[in-house]
Amino acid sequence: MKLEIIDVKVNPLRDEEIKDIVNIERHPLVKKWLVEYADESFEKELEEYTRFFNSLRDNNRVDVLVAKIDGNIAGFLALWRMDDNEHVASIGVSTHPDYWGKGVATNLIKESIKLAKKKGIGKLIIETLEENSVMRHVAEKLGFKLEEIRKKKIFKDGDYHDEVVYSLKL
Ligand SMILES: CC(C)(COP(=O)(O)OP(=O)(O)OC[C@H]1O[C@@H](n2cnc3c(N)ncnc32)[C@H](O)[C@@H]1OP(=O)(O)O)[C@@H](O)C(=O)NCCC(=O)NCCS
Repeated sequence: MKLEIIDVKVNPLRDEEIKDIVNIERHPLVKKWLVEYADESFEKELEEYTRFFNSLRDNNRVDVLVAKIDGNIAGFLALWRMDDNEHVASIGVSTHPDYWGKGVATNLIKESIKLAKKKGIGKLIIETLEENSVMRHVAEKLGFKLEEIRKKKIFKDGDYHDEVVYSLKL
């Protein structure tokens, strides 16, 4: 198994690879855990992702890393600068369920820590559902500290859920 992490600003994705990313985000086992997702057709979402990736190089609010296993897209990570403080960035990460438990998210986050340091970011945060024990485990394993529990912050699937915020000072 060969795992590579690619900086999409340096090596842009091919159209087929953008489709793979959309398919990860739309996978029911992934969507279940996402706090924000667009409920729209595949074609519409693909159009939006294509526009996003095609203008990524000019977008200084976000960086994207992609993980490939044996050449196939296994997961990706977006590093978003916060609106109110560009020295703080929020991590969003998803792995295709076919590749869960193989270290994809761990490696993506490790690489994002290096990238963030290079870009002068002073703090990383991960916001996730309180019950997302896998994401919480990965964050804790990499040294992120629980900073806040936002009670009943997320309305999802007909119910209010707590959100946890982890942070890592760089
Ligand atoms: C969370 C997610 C990104 C993890 O991706 P991944 O590539 O499988 O993660 P890794 O393989 O690097 O690490 C998984 C870790 O969780 C552990 N784990 C597995 N099941 C677990 C459970 N039920 N509770 C706690 N930890 C668990 C694994 O043992 C592994 O830890 P280890 O490396 O110490 O052995 C992936 O499950 C996913 O895409 N989920 C849906 C989207 C999501 O939740 N994104 C995060 C929103 S911010």
